[in-house]
Amino acid sequence: MEVILFIHVIAMAFFVGGQIMLAATIVPVERSNPDPARMKAIAQNFGWGSLVALGTLIFTGMLMASHYSLWSDSTLHIKLTLMILTFISLGAHMKYSKSHALMGLTFVLTLSVVWFGLEL
Ligand code: HEM
Ligand code: HEM
Repeated sequence: MEVILFIHVIAMAFFVGGQIMLAATIVPVERSNPDPARMKAIAQNFGWGSLVALGTLIFTGMLMASHYSLWSDSTLHIKLTLMILTFISLGAHMKYSKSHALMGLTFVLTLSVVWFGLEL
């Protein structure tokens, strides 16, 4: 299970770290030197990477939840609810990709999932 947790944590690092990288470095650089087509390409490529990371998180998370018999754990239920809210926010962000509020909401919801991951 340690290998599974390792993979889970690496995928989490990509998913969370990618958003920090986007917000802290790429978006400010793009703002001072705008190129909407380039920004869109970066965001879309990151989107595909995140999809792989999310699939990995869900798969490894399910393996651990079964192994540790956590499916009825209320902390896991909160974590999964927040993850679904993150998906909804992500869907809205991709549809309304100019909205800064949706970028912020997606990021904050992601961090809340990490928090409840640590609580498990
Ligand atoms: C894992 C989380 C995220 C994923 C998977 C994701 C994915 C995407 C995708 C696929 C697009 C392109 C939408 C389109 O085709 O028009 C996009 C646009 C964008 N995202 Fe994200 N995003 C995430 C989080 C964030 C965060 C936290 C920020 C905050 C800085 C952000 C900033 C942007 C910007 C600036 C655009 C381009 C807006 C535009 O000019 O069209 N994204 N994102
Ligand atoms: C966005 C998706 C997810 C993120 C960001 C995330 C994040 C995390 C984090 C930060 C940890 C703590 C690692 C540690 O304390 O060593 C963790 C552990 C865990 N996650 Fe996730 N996770 C996600 C999805 C899932 C899913 C979908 C499930 C289950 C269906 C799940 C089940 C677990 C379990 C069972 C553990 C604890 C393992 C243990 O007891 O050591 N995770 N996760």
